[in-house]
Amino acid sequence: MRVNHLESWRALERDAKRLCRKRIEAQFELDPKRLDYLCLDAAGIYVDLSKHLVDRQVIANLLNLAQERKLGRAIEAIFTGELVNLTENRPALHTLLRASDIDPTDPVQTRRASQVAGVRREMNDFSARITNGDLTGHGGSTIRDVVNIGIGGSYLGPQLVCDALRYDHTGVGIHFVSNVDGGDLDRVLTSLDAASTYFIVASKSFATAETLLNASSARTWIQERFNDPSATRAHFAAVTAMPDRAVEFGIDRDNIFPMWDWVGGRYSLWSAIGLPITVAIGADGFGRLLRGAESMDQHFRTAALERNLPVMLALIGIWNNNFLGYETLAIAPYDDRLQKLPEYLQQLEMESNGKRITLDNEVAEYVTAPVLWGGVGTNAQHAFFQQLHQGNRLTATDFILVLSHQRATRDHHDMLVANCVAQAEGLMRGRLRTHLTDIENPNPTVNLPAHRETPGNRPNTMIVTDALTPESLGALLTLYEHKTYVQGVMWDIDSFDQWGVELGKSLAVSILTELGEASTGPHDASTSALLARYREVRNR
Ligand code: F6P
Repeated sequence: MRVNHLESWRALERDAKRLCRKRIEAQFELDPKRLDYLCLDAAGIYVDLSKHLVDRQVIANLLNLAQERKLGRAIEAIFTGELVNLTENRPALHTLLRASDIDPTDPVQTRRASQVAGVRREMNDFSARITNGDLTGHGGSTIRDVVNIGIGGSYLGPQLVCDALRYDHTGVGIHFVSNVDGGDLDRVLTSLDAASTYFIVASKSFATAETLLNASSARTWIQERFNDPSATRAHFAAVTAMPDRAVEFGIDRDNIFPMWDWVGGRYSLWSAIGLPITVAIGADGFGRLLRGAESMDQHFRTAALERNLPVMLALIGIWNNNFLGYETLAIAPYDDRLQKLPEYLQQLEMESNGKRITLDNEVAEYVTAPVLWGGVGTNAQHAFFQQLHQGNRLTATDFILVLSHQRATRDHHDMLVANCVAQAEGLMRGRLRTHLTDIENPNPTVNLPAHRETPGNRPNTMIVTDALTPESLGALLTLYEHKTYVQGVMWDIDSFDQWGVELGKSLAVSILTELGEASTGPHDASTSALLARYREVRNR
């Protein structure tokens, strides 16, 4: 049956009508035990969902929806390697990459786990050789800088983690090049010495045009430095599921770290795609990241749905998105080290669930992934928070708060935490004109009060961890991974394919070919004018 025809879906529609004119803060008075069922704690992560426009009945109906969608079965399916990626006929086994306990009676899982362990040993060995100074370049110089060339899932996760755990770094310089804009590669290479620089070409397909062009420009940079084409071998490694393509590029087979088609790009930082992370924070640090992820996996697999962090985060998102009409979700991490989190989650959620066709091949009659965006607090308060408080588009917010910081002094951290907590409370409560002080409202005869009023009732989630460690970061990212999957199950879509992006990959090809020719093919007038303008500037 279509999702929106289910009894629980209809009940939630009725709940939305019942609650839509109510205030969130009033729910605290109506139910003093609200925190008991809306605050959850697992794997070092505390999630407070109480500042949403929900009550016990809404939660019960959301859980009914999960039951009607057979969520428990779907959760088990992801761990046991069922073909959850139906359009590509594959499992999505990123959980296996961090599992320490494999079912010994399952030969396929056992074989995969032993492949994972083998690659992990190679990763550890490679990163130890770099951090110990044993790996040398073509001219015999010690490698001091590593540049990861990759895009999408072959970049966002590793860069986020390397950035977030910057105080745990071993000392080797870690850099990322993703954009085909030549300025990106130039920005990184300008400060480096080719003799002591090593490149990791990270591409599951080894066919992504941006990555291949960046990699070949980097290869030219190395070869020109030594005036020797064979120098490539001492300066390049690859992470890929297509090793022959990497060999053809000129990378030594011994320097190729495998990955598998059962790991999706945006779920791959736990695989050899995490090689720059291992170099940055060492094998121990990477192991701790995996353990944090695994503890969230175990929680997700075993906790009752109503106490299950990823499940409840997902269901609240569905309530806001599908029943209250919140079209966007802002991500506001209050920790500068999590700058990259919004971008990472953008790929995770929007590439996974930005879909309109159900698994039964029908057009979904309801909206799927919200637009996800954001930025770090407190900077974001001076950028987009105005709209969150007073705009007339509906946005829910996820705050991510880290309660301690090993480098921040108490005055800084107190102020950061105070801002985060105050924003969450302020978005919920608002400030009605009757509450404005005389100073804020010196002359009630002009129209100022309406402009100063903030309506409040803006729902938000607070996600809290005591400290940003490899473990808590692993758990946090896994929380969002599973949330994404749960929402995909609820919306009856395949969260693991990305046919829209695949189409996008081919769109530029014909125009690129035309740019190499004397004239361009037939296009609409707008496209032709743009191409003509580019040709003119290029020929100057
Ligand atoms: O962005 C689309 C995508 O297919 C992602 O899923 C993937 O992470 C990225 O391209 C990079 O792909 P590859 O690792 O094959 O270069």
